[in-house]
Amino acid sequence: MNLFSIQGLTKRFDALVATNDVSLEIEREGILSIIGPNGAGKTTVFNLLTGLLKPDAGKILYKGEDITGKKPYQIIRHGIARSFQVVSLFEEMTVLDNMRVGIQRNLGLMNRMFLEASNKAATEKSLELLELVGIAPLADHGASHIPHGDRKVLDLAMSLVSEPDTLLLDEPMAGLSPVERLRITNLIRKLSETRKIILVEHDMDLVFGISDSILVLHHGAILARGTPREIAANESVQSAYLGKEAS
Ligand SMILES: Nc1ncnc2c1ncn2[C@@H]1O[C@H](COP(=O)(O)OP(=O)(O)OP(=O)(O)O)[C@@H](O)[C@H]1O
Ligand SMILES: [Mg+2]
Repeated sequence: MNLFSIQGLTKRFDALVATNDVSLEIEREGILSIIGPNGAGKTTVFNLLTGLLKPDAGKILYKGEDITGKKPYQIIRHGIARSFQVVSLFEEMTVLDNMRVGIQRNLGLMNRMFLEASNKAATEKSLELLELVGIAPLADHGASHIPHGDRKVLDLAMSLVSEPDTLLLDEPMAGLSPVERLRITNLIRKLSETRKIILVEHDMDLVFGISDSILVLHHGAILARGTPREIAANESVQSAYLGKEAS
């Protein structure tokens, strides 16, 4: 059974069809990247998969279960988590407290009775995740005072608190320097060893270097799907997207 089985997924905003009859099978392993020009509908697909938006038509099966139209907190319980295109942290709190709030919130969703008892556990789990992503030394720093690259990493760590089997990353490289990009690339690779990664990214070096499979969206519809090699050689992709990017 595939991880996702998506059939006829459609989302309209008035006259605009942001997701146009998307049918897609997503396998359990590896890194899938979703690419396409600005406004192609990449973030909208993420919003549909995570319950932030309800589709107008279509069906989303996750591990065989119908999750269409479910609320974000229900979808998180199925094992799907995401990061956002624009990082939002609790600016006035430390890195560690950002993590703790995320964990308590997640536990709270699971079982409010655990909330008090979970204080120590939340700290331990926070430190463990900060260690995993490599920013444990920044635990006591104010979130607003750490470099942009570390903020992206913290946001990534926060998306791991629900221990997702599937992690959706929306432009994790946006605004990062080459050195920071390399760091995030290595982190994504590491995270992909134990969970499915679905990546939206405009950085084609990353996408073509890291992906097992690439999906190209154009005007909300699927233009192509294939391995990096197949996508690079695809003429309609080149004229709709890659060619334009290069010029
Ligand atoms: N909540 C909304 N209400 C109205 N229109 C929306 C909404 N969200 C997205 N859209 C529109 O849907 C289309 C797809 O937007 P989406 O954000 O999914 O694109 P994207 O591929 O993520 O683009 P980018 O690369 O710029 O992030 C765009 O035309 C956008 O303006
Ligand atoms: Mg987007």
